[in-house]
Amino acid sequence: MSSPAPSPLPRFPRDFLWGVSTSAAQIEGAVDEDGRGRSAWDAFTARTGRIKDGSDARTATDHYHRYREDVALLKDLGIGAYRFSVAWPRVVPDGSGAVNGAGLDFYDRLVDALLAAGVAPVPTLFHWDTPQTLEEGGGWLVRETAEHFAAYADAVAARLGDRVEHWITLNEPAELTLLGYGLGQHAPGRRLLFDALPAAHHQLLGHGLAVQALRARGAAGIGIANSHGPTWTASPSTADTEAADFYDLLLNRLFADPVLLGRYPDEGIAAMLPGPVADDLKIISQPLDWYGINYYQPTLVGAPDPDAAAGPSDFAGIALPPELPFSPREIEGFPRTDFGWPVVPQALTELLLSFRDRYGAALPPVMITENGCSYEGIEDTDRIAFLDGHLRALHDAMAAGADVRGYFVWSLMDNFEWAEGYARRFGLVHIDYATLARTPKASYRWLRNALRDQARG
Ligand code: NOJ
Repeated sequence: MSSPAPSPLPRFPRDFLWGVSTSAAQIEGAVDEDGRGRSAWDAFTARTGRIKDGSDARTATDHYHRYREDVALLKDLGIGAYRFSVAWPRVVPDGSGAVNGAGLDFYDRLVDALLAAGVAPVPTLFHWDTPQTLEEGGGWLVRETAEHFAAYADAVAARLGDRVEHWITLNEPAELTLLGYGLGQHAPGRRLLFDALPAAHHQLLGHGLAVQALRARGAAGIGIANSHGPTWTASPSTADTEAADFYDLLLNRLFADPVLLGRYPDEGIAAMLPGPVADDLKIISQPLDWYGINYYQPTLVGAPDPDAAAGPSDFAGIALPPELPFSPREIEGFPRTDFGWPVVPQALTELLLSFRDRYGAALPPVMITENGCSYEGIEDTDRIAFLDGHLRALHDAMAAGADVRGYFVWSLMDNFEWAEGYARRFGLVHIDYATLARTPKASYRWLRNALRDQARG
């Protein structure tokens, strides 16, 4: 891609929350320690052929043992906030029942270390590591999982609530539904296609019940991290327009409308959910303090066409099966990350303004809870250009009236990128997986300077 941007970033508000993100299953390792139970990802990675490089996350970046070093990196970066996830199977090993105090102790130490370093902790309660015992009972396809999730949320809030100001309930329920239960590319590896939709509803219900549990413990500052990106239509034809609309419905509106508007966006979809859902929707749509968006790329979508060039802009690099009534197409004319994802900063502006227009007063202040890219190398000028471009696009959206209060880079460090294993590197800090040595990349130094600049203004 291009070389680092020459001019300083535009000025963001003084109280803008600058952060970086990670998740437990991708960095912690230590899967058998201190009473942690098994997760669906432990079970999935143990099956051969599921992860591209044949790896698993038993050690990952060994953050569980090296968190002090990682907190020192956060401090040196000068970042205001750190979004991490709490591993449900560490806290409630079987997903329901006994709470494992030793598991909570880890997050207790982490939160204290962050606060001592002047970094605000932003825990996500669920980032895809469903306890395997629950998974074996149906996982998110069954309603009880949502109820167990709320009990676990209560246990975490009871321990950390005195020091945590920002909470995230779920991370990307769309991806877990589609990739985990629909297509089988992620844990738990089910290929249910549209029969996966109950997993969407139960995650959303789990979100709502967790909001209630957190509020009962006095929490303010509650949000969700949903993945969103603009859907572009391959052509103005009716077939392509309808296909793109359906894709947008499944990936964007299905997860935002219930939370923000208290309804499902389409009757056809609602009919595939475990009904009746009217009372659940009241729980799902309780007011939030902010709404988190993970943004990576737009998707160009048309009707299924066996001859159309489908490429790396397929959903998260995964070719979708022909049975689906839409097909993502190659996006031409933009640079690509090493993952093959198109780099389109202006689509972030477009997305934020479309949210402002669609949800209006129902949309609380937004935080970008993830944005980032995979590139090799420690002199990662491409990542600098990516972040610079997206921050300018974010600023444009704010100047046009989008109420955005924070931005989190994915990710603090290279980590276990799910079905891709360790081949994709999203970090500001390089991990040498042979030695687990941490080396800040050029992008880390660039962000540190940008943050200092912002603080000066
Ligand atoms: C979204 C997910 O939340 C995160 O776990 C993943 O690593 C990034 N996207 C990059 O694919």
